[in-house]
Amino acid sequence: MKIAMIAAECVPYAKTGGLADVVGALPQTLQKMGHEVIVVMPKYGFIDTQKFRLRPYLGSLGVWMGNTLEWCAVHVASNGGVPVYFIESDKFFAREGLYHDKAMNDYLDNPRRFAFLTRAGIQLCRDTAFAPDIVHVHDWHTALGPAYLKIWHWNDPVLGRTASVLTIHNVGYQGVYPASDYAYLGLQPGNFTPDKFEDHGAVNFLKGGIVYSDMVNTVSPTYAAETRTPDLGYGLAPYLNDKGDRYVGILNGVDYTEWNPATDRRLPANYTADDLSGKAVCKRELQRRMLLEENPDIPIIGIVSRFASQKGLDLLAEAVEPIVNAMRVQFALLGSGDPTLESYYGPLPARYGGRIGSYIGYNNDLAHLIEAGADFFCMPSIYEPCGLNQMYSLKYGTLPIVRATGGLEDTVQQYNEATGEGTGFKFSEPSASAIYYTVGWAVSTYYDRKHHMAQMIQSAMAQDYSWERSAEGYLWLYDQAKQVKP
Ligand code: ADP
Ligand code: GLC
Repeated sequence: MKIAMIAAECVPYAKTGGLADVVGALPQTLQKMGHEVIVVMPKYGFIDTQKFRLRPYLGSLGVWMGNTLEWCAVHVASNGGVPVYFIESDKFFAREGLYHDKAMNDYLDNPRRFAFLTRAGIQLCRDTAFAPDIVHVHDWHTALGPAYLKIWHWNDPVLGRTASVLTIHNVGYQGVYPASDYAYLGLQPGNFTPDKFEDHGAVNFLKGGIVYSDMVNTVSPTYAAETRTPDLGYGLAPYLNDKGDRYVGILNGVDYTEWNPATDRRLPANYTADDLSGKAVCKRELQRRMLLEENPDIPIIGIVSRFASQKGLDLLAEAVEPIVNAMRVQFALLGSGDPTLESYYGPLPARYGGRIGSYIGYNNDLAHLIEAGADFFCMPSIYEPCGLNQMYSLKYGTLPIVRATGGLEDTVQQYNEATGEGTGFKFSEPSASAIYYTVGWAVSTYYDRKHHMAQMIQSAMAQDYSWERSAEGYLWLYDQAKQVKP
């Protein structure tokens, strides 16, 4: 099969979250399975063209946006053998941020930037006679792709047979913009209606994408069910329900070439389920790095997260001090985002010296060290479409403490105190006290039921969430899309 993926993020070039991990790994896996995949993304100003060996590919590509003809250039690089095409437009992408400036203000032309990226990706396929079976788009940024195919290319010699798939990584971000942007998007005036793009007078990218896609998926079965309800559908539940069985959940995979304690080159020592001595070395290094008391017998709870309301870190903020006051436990926290949370978590180590370590910022090396060196990993998410960190944690024998929602519910098995079965600790109420008591449960297991800890670490490390499994799911989805395409 031939697949063209268009996305705003892709590792190792540009990443703010798990979307980039997925767009980096899924194409490589599909390609190894014998399929032909290309990726199209922006050439952001911060991308290191030398390091990543970008080569000029097309000097100019003309793209119609409404009544405006926009021009861009195209570069190409190989991401583990997958061609990644970079859309170069100084006007839209030569900036230091993906979506916002340093002061966290969203770029006002985001709807234009990403609509342009999407149409440029489709135009690139057309102009280079790459006739994909599937155009696969991700999140609101590129959700207009299926609409462009159906509105402009339904009868096209290159793209007329191309079906579309939209993957929703987070229904909380929909791309809702003023109606004044609509004409530029080039979606035809007649489609600005409540059953398509119009949403309370504004344009809603994700909603239009859902309506026009041949198949839609999100990144876990539980989140697929949750988003069909008013509570977590954020206004789009009726449209997701309208899709019927054309909306499904497919769990993300883990890139075990990056996230495997046996081979991870970012760690001071490697380890396996058979020999965990390297994990103790990582724990010592983590305690040293984060200025925690260097004591192998105190459990560490790790956190690596975007500071966004979805992640439940405001609830954790109410629980963390009571926890360290009542229990012999340490926190190692890494994250950035919401300034209120940054200014809460940033100064905590100064007040709880040796017991709480925090690093405000983005740091991949430290993320790996926390996964390896901690004993537990906490994700108290309000909602979590899939979540990658809990799956990394399982592989690193770092038991997840999670709220039972979305992908967290699907990937973590509840500890059974009678048998020692399970891979982590789950709670359901979104409250500080639920976090407090569940952390208490984990910590008491650490001190009082060491044999259960050992058993759970073995079960956790034996879990397999490799991309091959997820890629099978996507191949099924692509087949479905081809079948249902009108
Ligand atoms: P989301 O995409 O909602 O942020 P995921 O769990 O799917 O959540 O993916 C988060 C990814 O981003 C993981 O690879 C995680 O290690 C990484 N990450 C998040 N915050 C940071 C940070 N401050 N430093 C390093 N890596 C981070
Ligand atoms: C989103 C979700 C996260 C998911 C990731 C990759 O950022 O918040 O749960 O793992 O996308 O699909």
